Amino acid sequence: MTRPSRTRHFLRDDDLSPTELIEVLDLADVMKAKRYAHQPLAGPRSVAVIFDRPSTRTRVSFANGIAELGGYPLIIDAQVSQLGRGESIADTARVLDRQCAAIVWRTSGQDRIEEMAAHSRVPVVNALTDSYHPCQLVADLQTVREHKGRLAGLTLTYLGDGANNMAHSYLLAGAAAGMIVRIGSPAGYAPDAEILNRAAGIAAQTGGRVEHITDPHAAVDGADVLATDTWISMGQEDETTARSAPFAPFAIDEAALAAAAGDAIVLHCLPAYRGREIAAAVIDGPSSVVWDEAENRLHAQKALLAFVLERS
Ligand code: CP
Ligand code: NVA
Repeated sequence: MTRPSRTRHFLRDDDLSPTELIEVLDLADVMKAKRYAHQPLAGPRSVAVIFDRPSTRTRVSFANGIAELGGYPLIIDAQVSQLGRGESIADTARVLDRQCAAIVWRTSGQDRIEEMAAHSRVPVVNALTDSYHPCQLVADLQTVREHKGRLAGLTLTYLGDGANNMAHSYLLAGAAAGMIVRIGSPAGYAPDAEILNRAAGIAAQTGGRVEHITDPHAAVDGADVLATDTWISMGQEDETTARSAPFAPFAIDEAALAAAAGDAIVLHCLPAYRGREIAAAVIDGPSSVVWDEAENRLHAQKALLAFVLERS
């Protein structure tokens, strides 16, 4: 059985329209102010949270968030499930959607989560794929808005791997929020052209702008928000040595921070590698908002779950 078309999934950032993104961010703020007031999972109804890959923040924030929404977090390590032994994604979806209110999945290929959604009658949420990390972006935008009071018109510079999940999500979600998103990366690590185009199309509607820049100095100049991520994403461990030299000029160090706006804030989705993509003095300094960002995973994902459940 294929899913009814009205089921709302969140597989990539642009599954929320610009208006819906603001709605979710507003709800996240409300949920942050009143942690236990919203109980859409009362019963408790369960949410399956499946991990094909390691996680600290995503695991903890979904587990706590689902519990705070009145539900039961069913955390599944794929390695010890039949999915990890080759049971099909379609059959897994057909079993989970009979018992769970939603399915949250961290996996590798975007095609895998799309297949799960195609066979699920309950909402499927992307908890990171190789292509996108959209839950992280809701938390990041909530954090920026808390510290800056707005999103539209701000310049957000991401320095690092322009081809990874975080860069792609900054492009799509930042554009939806009406931001000027600059991706600064080595030439060989540019964003996917199709995603860059899609983000440009969204930005054209919201008054935002997206750019890919290979000069790290130009990228950080005057930015309101600096963001980075590991140079070595999960699954790329064998590229660690090859990536060191090209990525070194794209570190967020004290010089990069000094070239940004005087009141710039610094984001990092974590885990961080001090002395590589970010200097200890920056991540542990006064411009860093990374701990607020990590906390906001909880509030943002609660709002997101409430939104997709209500709209499905
Ligand atoms: N930022 C993030 O997704 O962290 P985890 O990999 O620890 O979940
Ligand atoms: N780009 C990183 C994000 C980790 C949260 C990765 O995919 O490993």
